[in-house]
Amino acid sequence: MTVGMSIQDGVDVANIEGKVMAAINDKVLDALNQQLNCEFHSAFHYLAMESYFQSIHLKGFGKWMRDQYKEERVHALKILDYINDRGCRVKLAHIEEPPQEWESPLEAFEDAYRQEQDSSGLINGLVDLSQSERDHATHLFLQWFVQNQVEEEAMVGSIVEKLRLVGNDPYGLFLLDRDRG
Ligand code: FEO
Repeated sequence: MTVGMSIQDGVDVANIEGKVMAAINDKVLDALNQQLNCEFHSAFHYLAMESYFQSIHLKGFGKWMRDQYKEERVHALKILDYINDRGCRVKLAHIEEPPQEWESPLEAFEDAYRQEQDSSGLINGLVDLSQSERDHATHLFLQWFVQNQVEEEAMVGSIVEKLRLVGNDPYGLFLLDRDRG
């Protein structure tokens, strides 16, 4: 049973007496809901990139993009579960359409890198907000995301660097794609 809840004779006392735990304040809740939307948008963005790579027969990169899509969904659901656990209401919103075309694999990965940097910026802003609003639980919850962004930026950044290295060499591109297949 959740800490702070008690059930007497089958009656949920917590529901009678009021909230089980302090709800997230509106400012932090809005920001969490926005981050949830951002994670779903990132998922769509990666899925669009998968489709681009499939269309140019770079299946390894396509598979890599599909894996990122799955990870972004996990991030979104982590936030959704957290909001629910705090006894607050998730607000799902319109997800912005992702880009559909890129000039080259390098451009697609540079775009992915920018997306991760934007995501890191939003997470950091959310951390600042949780701190200024003295929401310690949210602050702690977000630490996983801060660390994860460091890893994701490093991972995408390293592929960008390799793609810059191979330039227009088709064999280099073939090898990079094969490594991710
Ligand atoms: Fe949800 Fe790529 O971070």
